[in-house]
Amino acid sequence: MKVAILHHDLEWTEKELKRILKEKFNADVELFDIRRVVLEDFKSFNPDLILNRVYASVANRDYTSLKKTLSLLRSLDETFLIVNSFNASLSDYSKAHSFNLMKSVNIRTPNTKLYDENYDIQSNILGLGNFPLIVKRDTGGRGIGLRKCNTLEEIEQAVNNIKSSEDYTGGIIFQEFHSPIEGYDYRVWIVGGEVILYHKRTLISSNGEAPWLASRSLGSKILPPEVSIPEDLKEFSKAAAESIGAEFDVLDIIKTGTGYSVIEHNPTPNVRPEYEGILGFNVLEKLIDSIRKKYLKMEVLLDGSNN
Ligand SMILES: Nc1ncnc2c1ncn2[C@@H]1O[C@H](COP(=O)(O)OP(=O)(O)O)[C@@H](O)[C@H]1O
Ligand SMILES: [Mg+2]
Repeated sequence: MKVAILHHDLEWTEKELKRILKEKFNADVELFDIRRVVLEDFKSFNPDLILNRVYASVANRDYTSLKKTLSLLRSLDETFLIVNSFNASLSDYSKAHSFNLMKSVNIRTPNTKLYDENYDIQSNILGLGNFPLIVKRDTGGRGIGLRKCNTLEEIEQAVNNIKSSEDYTGGIIFQEFHSPIEGYDYRVWIVGGEVILYHKRTLISSNGEAPWLASRSLGSKILPPEVSIPEDLKEFSKAAAESIGAEFDVLDIIKTGTGYSVIEHNPTPNVRPEYEGILGFNVLEKLIDSIRKKYLKMEVLLDGSNN
């Protein structure tokens, strides 16, 4: 099989995907840097599958590349199999967009509003309920610019902080805070509508509050699940991934006093080397295997280039 990896920076996940594709699946792999690639490059390579990994490394610092990715995907979608496609990527790059899609099919997730500069902060947050409220970048990315705010002043500061970042020209969102009742969240991996794996992440907090934040850089740990995925979490996750049209999605879900809530969709997740030791298998190998079995044409699967 021929696989194109569309990327920005090459981080561990992209390099590992390439290695596994070549070594385990005997694939012909080419890398395409979003900053230089043109449509014709894909046409001449003619891949069976395009893995779109652009968001992974630059979500929070190269908005121009995200916009270029979307316009490229729109053209490529007609001809090629892309994971993830144009539609799913829209939700990857905009939390407000994914909120609207989830809301339209009643998937529980924090109520969200996109900041409108024409109105003051008070009018912007109208309808979101009591403090605390979450302020973050619409595109997200490694928690940059994320603040949990308890006053209007804090919200104003959080907004100004995002506005002043030179490399970000996207939207800002305000969100209801959903309070987790467990000390961890769930990360549920879905390919083609089926759960392929799940695990937990410990939540952390600063200044003595109850743990609420999943942040690897601040110390959240990956935990293996003790049991197979609960049926209600499985059905909730499948419906959530379907609502944004994702071929592949990693959902961040918490349990609240009134049920599960989707905190975020990650159609372009990052993986770290320690996953394999903790979970006991290679997550990226499982991912590639699930994608090829679900989406690749039989003649590609049988062409002898996989084991
Ligand atoms: N509305 C919210 N309610 C509760 N926790 C939240 C909310 N928004 C974000 N968080 C916490 O902050 C983390 C980072 O936010 P997220 O939306 O995933 O942004 P990013 O795209 O930067 O990863 C989440 O994993 C979650 O722990
Ligand atoms: Mg996140």
